[in-house]
Amino acid sequence: MTTPAAPTPVHVDERARSMRRAMVAALRDAGELTDAAVTEALAAEPRHLYVPVFYRRCRDDAGGGWFTERVDAGHPSWLPEVHADQALVTMLRDGTDGPPLSSSTAPSLMAAMLQSLAIEAGMNVLEVGTGTGYNAGLLARLAGDAHVTTIDIEPAIIDTARAALAAAGHPAVRVLCGDGADLRGEPGSVDRIIDTCGLTTVPDGWRVLVRPGGRIVAPIGAGIAAIDVDGESGASGRFLPTGAYFMGLRSAVGAAGVPFPGEPDDAPTGRCAMPLAAWADNDFRFPVSLALPDLMSRGGPDDPELVAWHGDGSIARIRADGAAQQAGPRRLADALGALWIDFQAAGRPPRDRYGVTISPEGRHTAWRDTPDTAHSWQLGTPQQAMTNLFSLNWLEFVGQGVGNP
Ligand SMILES: C[S@@+](CC[C@H](N)C(=O)[O-])C[C@H]1O[C@@H](n2cnc3c(N)ncnc32)[C@H](O)[C@@H]1O
Repeated sequence: MTTPAAPTPVHVDERARSMRRAMVAALRDAGELTDAAVTEALAAEPRHLYVPVFYRRCRDDAGGGWFTERVDAGHPSWLPEVHADQALVTMLRDGTDGPPLSSSTAPSLMAAMLQSLAIEAGMNVLEVGTGTGYNAGLLARLAGDAHVTTIDIEPAIIDTARAALAAAGHPAVRVLCGDGADLRGEPGSVDRIIDTCGLTTVPDGWRVLVRPGGRIVAPIGAGIAAIDVDGESGASGRFLPTGAYFMGLRSAVGAAGVPFPGEPDDAPTGRCAMPLAAWADNDFRFPVSLALPDLMSRGGPDDPELVAWHGDGSIARIRADGAAQQAGPRRLADALGALWIDFQAAGRPPRDRYGVTISPEGRHTAWRDTPDTAHSWQLGTPQQAMTNLFSLNWLEFVGQGVGNP
């Protein structure tokens, strides 16, 4: 559980200020910070007040099992790590040892999302996924405290975030508890929505809340889309170049997860055109996340095989030598192979060659290069996102250095 923000001693605040300056300078030098207002906000907002404690996975000394370490103000790496460009797990499902339930997104990714939001002072901004409240603090610096509302589904988070926002000088930011997928309010009353939990599709209500010409920035699949709402209840936009693996939007009723359909018992049925090394290629995993949003997997390039399964009951086992077994309604090894061939033939397209269009009826089409291309995919239901991304676990955090859950 996160602990409420306690007053920090003055010398801690001073050390934090100088570390914050260094972090911002590093982000600027790396080309991650290009907007003056976002730079100023990051330089001013005290991340350490929002992250009084975080959790990380460590291997025991014998190099055997993993354990969870709690890092708080008494730990020598607390302040330096809070000012590193990394995501920090801030709440665990079972208090101290469950899977991650909330986190503070990596500052470079927050900067990319904030820059693409193009917030002006006085705009009404809504954030879905309050978490620590840090991003809401940054939004408050950009739009003005009274113009920011943030919502989280986790009741235990709300008080902590409110206390941190007040300690950082933003008591007027509205912090709500509820399901951000089910937002209602005055149509057109919001200029910007920033969502910090993973989606497969944008909930319909968001397009109603945002005024025509307003913008929604949200993780879709393994990317971040910046989508402009049009005057006809539709919306469209492109993905940012940066990758993203956010914790999924949870529903108030929970998510059952994608059931494992059982091992395919056929003999190898052929070969998969996708080498296992492709599974470590985050640029390739992005189109996979659009084309097969409900896909789960275990294993990969460092293992003898990759096993991938889908919510429709399909499963494929792909061995390092390319031999594949597949079972169920969809031939997943063939689908992954075709995606790999297409990805190579297209010149390994970066994320910003992809976009998404949402029809007034809410039909989501992701596409490459232009909306009318043959390279397009219908995106699924929000339920798929919950089952897929909700299952993000410690392994993925540790293995991928997840910058953003
Ligand atoms: C990556 S964290 C948010 C990070 C946060 N913006 C920050 O600055 O610390 C994602 C958050 O989304 C919340 N969340 C998940 N499903 C939600 C839903 N349906 N509605 C609102 N919040 C949700 C989680 O409880 C978690 O705190």
